[in-house]
Amino acid sequence: MEQYVIKGGNPLAGEVEIGGAKNAALGIVAAAIMADETVMIENLPDVQDINVLLQAVECIGAIVNRVDAHTVKINGSHIGNLCVDNEYIKKIRGSYYLVGALLGKYKHAEVALPGGCNIGSRPIDQHIKGFEALGATVDIEYGLFIAEAQNLKGSHIFLDMASVGATINIMLASVLAEGRTIIENAAREPHVVDVANFLNSMGANIKGAGTDVIRIKGVSSLHKTEYSIIPDQIEAGTFMFAAAATKGDIMIKNVIPKHLEAAVAKLIEMGCEVEEFDDAMRVVASRRLKQTHLKTLTYPGFPTDMQPQISTTLALSKGTSIVTESIFENRFKYVDELVRMGAKITVEGNTAIIEGVDKLTGARVNALDLRAGASLVIAGLAAEGITVVEDIIYIQRGYERFDEKLRSLGGQIEKVSTEKEIQKFKLMVG
Ligand code: EPZ
Repeated sequence: MEQYVIKGGNPLAGEVEIGGAKNAALGIVAAAIMADETVMIENLPDVQDINVLLQAVECIGAIVNRVDAHTVKINGSHIGNLCVDNEYIKKIRGSYYLVGALLGKYKHAEVALPGGCNIGSRPIDQHIKGFEALGATVDIEYGLFIAEAQNLKGSHIFLDMASVGATINIMLASVLAEGRTIIENAAREPHVVDVANFLNSMGANIKGAGTDVIRIKGVSSLHKTEYSIIPDQIEAGTFMFAAAATKGDIMIKNVIPKHLEAAVAKLIEMGCEVEEFDDAMRVVASRRLKQTHLKTLTYPGFPTDMQPQISTTLALSKGTSIVTESIFENRFKYVDELVRMGAKITVEGNTAIIEGVDKLTGARVNALDLRAGASLVIAGLAAEGITVVEDIIYIQRGYERFDEKLRSLGGQIEKVSTEKEIQKFKLMVG
């Protein structure tokens, strides 16, 4: 398995370019197969999860032409197989968007049950509730998520919680349904808005995305489009906290500042200087940061996907911080790994009490999920000595060229896969 080996201590400095939003791209690639014409998607992140989803839609008959690493053309007119089931698709969370897309277009879908980061039970009851409200019958059989309908009729759906996945999946299933669908308590995340904007560019009729009430008027068909995915605010936030943790000074380019307001507010509270530009953000951490408290919330609150990253930064900040995770029930697994590096964190239920320490020291640690892995890389960049992060496949699912981008900012990090390479790195960095 590949690993990252890191020598900590260098403040990150320079410029980094943010890629397209992974969690928008998953919904958009699924939506793309709903037209019988060619759609072109730009600013696609070249990450594992997206590449697995593209393989899956190609396997069922979609024509996929990867123009370059960040641009793809998809034509769904030749889809002949409505069952998506392979070992790769089982590993990603976004596979379930194919249920909404295939059900919405063909009134039938069979997709392997979703995988994804092990940060909680991650049920799909709200997705099922939405599909059944539209008139589908849903079964979970032989590890497959099966949905089918004679026809789909618009409905007034009340989500029990503002689920990102369920909001996107119900939008996919309802854009070609008869009549009007209303989704109450809809998720408001930027990537929900991006999927809605993409569908509207294909001829759908979706209003209210970005608010907690989304109204969809079914149309008869969807058509070709060219669309560029929004920047990934979670990738941007990851680099912002990496700059904060290493007392760096970085310019993050290709961002939408509005999407980063919650993270910026916390960075400023902690003592960072943040300068905002039209599509860039400069983060400077010139002195030791101080504690803060936070609770993860749905957008526009502080995102759960940045919780491991800010907690790692707070592990080195002066004072005691309290971080409450309100979205997922098991998103503090990385804490044990941070403690191996000298962090003083105790977890009680869904709350972490973080007593800031003067330094972290390098150790061998495991990336247990995507954002936990990224937070351990941040810890390694800030720690004294050498850190080896194992199982970086999780990180590669959602971060494109992560080590390369960090090296361009002065981070001493290499991707390796043998002990010999680790020794060679240690000799190189001294
Ligand atoms: C999406 O997951 C993202 N993944 C997650 O990002 C992100 O953390 C999450 O939204 C919240 O923003 C993708 O977009 C692929 P939810 P999703 O449905 O859709 C409960 C990352 O790091 N729930 O908004 O699975 C659920 O258990 C990943 O990029 C139900 O109970 O999240 C959770 O407690 C990690 N029943 C809460 O709602 C359901 O049917 C929010 O989940 C659906 C969700």
